[in-house]
Amino acid sequence: MKIDIIGYGSMGKMILEKFIETKTIEQGKLFVSNRTYDKIMNLNKIYPQINICGNNIDAVKDADIVFICVKPLEIKTVLSEIINGIKDNCHIVSLNGSILFKQLEQICGNRKISKIIPSVTAEVNKSATLICHNDYVNYDDKNILKELIGCFGSFVELPETEIGIGSELTSCMPGFIGAIFKVITDEAEKHTAINKEQIIQMVIETLYGTGKLLLEKRITFEELINRVATKGGITEEGTEIIGKKLPEIINEVFEKTLEKRKIITEKAQKDFMI
Ligand SMILES: NC(=O)c1ccc[n+]([C@@H]2O[C@H](COP(=O)([O-])OP(=O)(O)OC[C@H]3O[C@@H](n4cnc5c(N)ncnc54)[C@H](OP(=O)(O)O)[C@@H]3O)[C@@H](O)[C@H]2O)c1
Repeated sequence: MKIDIIGYGSMGKMILEKFIETKTIEQGKLFVSNRTYDKIMNLNKIYPQINICGNNIDAVKDADIVFICVKPLEIKTVLSEIINGIKDNCHIVSLNGSILFKQLEQICGNRKISKIIPSVTAEVNKSATLICHNDYVNYDDKNILKELIGCFGSFVELPETEIGIGSELTSCMPGFIGAIFKVITDEAEKHTAINKEQIIQMVIETLYGTGKLLLEKRITFEELINRVATKGGITEEGTEIIGKKLPEIINEVFEKTLEKRKIITEKAQKDFMI
């Protein structure tokens, strides 16, 4: 099995590190290329056996699986460059949710293509990677890919049409959670003499513990609310305001992000037609 990673940015780096750290793939079977070579040229100091390639065409030669880890509007350039250099049965894996299979197939034809959408939380082995496949990916290819991405955490298989909202709930979610808890810690400062560092420590520990509680005890959000926000108590004052005011904000967030996703897809569609 020869695995190729094109694009050594946030996602390409994470995937490479996970494969090596979890010993999912032997270093010698991993090939990596990046537009700016300087970014990868010293990688052998950390991973002595991985194969660092000076260009994408060399990297994909004989590859069984190619992970395309570049920004959406760069995918077409990369695919056009590599398509004649890859094996017929090579499994192409795009990390982008906005570029549709029908667009990718304009360049790749009837090749095996999957999409995986990881989350940065995979870095700590807790994540739900989204996965979907085009019609040419067979049962064995799906299983091999699932085994590989199992080193990021769990995965959820979705139809292509649901990848947008699925991405908001997984890969975008750490950003949303960060933004929400930044507001919480900033606003808390206005009501207390406790220093910011301690505020942040209290909130992060509680956030981590709440996630563990939900996952490990298998309790629902409603059960959690009921356990803390007892009738007529203090927490209930807060949860009622959240229940009343937050839906409007969250709806606006989803409307905006899904709209942006649509714009990127339309832009890519035009780009792929040129
Ligand atoms: N970040 C996330 O949390 C996340 C989550 C899920 C999915 N994704 C998807 O994953 C993909 C990558 O995102 P990212 O956040 O990792 O982006 P990024 O940090 O900007 O990394 C992109 C990398 O691609 C390289 N690149 C660009 N054009 C190239 C080419 N022609 N050949 C080889 N390498 C090239 C860039 O090289 P340079 O060094 O020259 O810039 C850069 O290192 C995107 O499609 C994104 O939508 C991201």
